[in-house]
Amino acid sequence: MSQAEIGLIGLGVMGSNLALNIAEKGNRIAVFNRTVDATRKFYAEAGALKDQIVPCETIEEFVAAIRPPRPIIIMIKAGDPVDQQMEALKPHLAKGDIMIDAGNANFRDTMRRFDALKDSGLTFIGMGVSGGEEGARHGPSIMVGGTEESYRRVEKVLTSIAAKYDSDPCVAWLGENGAGHFVKTIHNGIEYADMQMIAEIYGILRDGLKMTAQEIGEVFGAWNKGRLNSYLIEITEKVLKAADPLTGKPIVDMILDKAGQKGTGKWSVIEAQNMGVPATAIEAAVAARSISSAKEEREAAEKVLGLPPVGEIKVADRDGFIKDLENALLAAKIGAYAQGFAVMAAASKEFGWNLPMPTIAKIWRAGCIIRSQFLDEITTAFTKAPDAANLIVTPAFAAMVKESDGALRRVVSTAVLGGLPVPALASALGYFDSYRRGRGTANVIQAQRDFFGAHGFDRVDGADSHHGPWGSGLNA
Ligand code: 6PG
Repeated sequence: MSQAEIGLIGLGVMGSNLALNIAEKGNRIAVFNRTVDATRKFYAEAGALKDQIVPCETIEEFVAAIRPPRPIIIMIKAGDPVDQQMEALKPHLAKGDIMIDAGNANFRDTMRRFDALKDSGLTFIGMGVSGGEEGARHGPSIMVGGTEESYRRVEKVLTSIAAKYDSDPCVAWLGENGAGHFVKTIHNGIEYADMQMIAEIYGILRDGLKMTAQEIGEVFGAWNKGRLNSYLIEITEKVLKAADPLTGKPIVDMILDKAGQKGTGKWSVIEAQNMGVPATAIEAAVAARSISSAKEEREAAEKVLGLPPVGEIKVADRDGFIKDLENALLAAKIGAYAQGFAVMAAASKEFGWNLPMPTIAKIWRAGCIIRSQFLDEITTAFTKAPDAANLIVTPAFAAMVKESDGALRRVVSTAVLGGLPVPALASALGYFDSYRRGRGTANVIQAQRDFFGAHGFDRVDGADSHHGPWGSGLNA
């Protein structure tokens, strides 16, 4: 029997689906799981794909089943389990073998793991995989970080399983060590912002315009045919139109408003802050999830403070306002993506990755959770201007911002006056308004810093006088 092209450890939901995808695309794959039962069950249910799968019950058997240099995908819970699995594998591997962590790892762990293997003859790939269960089974977006040489060993298999946009596979080598997992983290940060902005718009429609879930679903359905066309808008329509099997009510009305989070959004924000890059829409989205999780505290606060005394939003032209909501969402989305790409540009310099922005936008066009038409437009914008300081100053996006930021301003002000929380939409607007303003207000901050701490400032006229006349002799 011929050896497997690749191995996979971890037959949980994501691992099983990825393994079936690999097998289905004609690649022979060896699989192993810590508990033998899961391996047996997986194999028993593999149907026609069994011929391509080598189920292994011991690590020795597993390693022997793969053609060297052996690429081994590890698809298990992020964190310590990955280190433990790597330690358990290491004694069985040989020079040139590649351990591939396909979970949602913190890229700093990936860098550490990559470095730790440097002189061992083994190598490590940190691979971001997006698209959830369905994506893993039928075509995810794959973001690879590691040596280019190790990528070449797995390129054929990964290309065969990746989602395709037209016929372009959504997989790429993005740079050394942590590049792939960093890009996946920012993908998730943007995902958080996208989801939060959609939720805020839903809130305006539900609480401001008093629309039912079904009616709001119709609105999202219509938007999905326009410029907002994307997977997240598509599933939002489906979510809003689905009925609860227990009560017959819209399921969305039966779901507790407490959002979970596993860490990638938070890491995006931490890394953005570390590098001094504003990612305010992503920050707002992460903070909104944290506020959402404090459900009991919010309920208690509502009793103490009450809701703002506005209630229903009265708009003279309802259809016009809904059109504004669509354009506002587009504008805010541009802000979030601009921030995400700016964070990646800074990280690329900081970590010496040379991240290819047009390629990143390209491999996000299909397969991943934030997939959309819009990403094709970003691909074009960055292909034309790969060194643009920010997405929003590229000609196409500058025009889109100018077209849509008025709607965002109207929507944010209407929501704020109506007492409806729109932190992510408002931060995108604040970002545009501060970023586009040549003369801001930090002169006051500089003066204050100089006043209380003699920190000094630069002058608009370039004169060589760096302290103010604060009366303490600083300006003498
Ligand atoms: C993806 C998703 C996936 C997962 C998130 C959810 O790209 O396929 O982002 O990675 O759904 O980890 O993250 P939270 O639990 O933090 O929302």
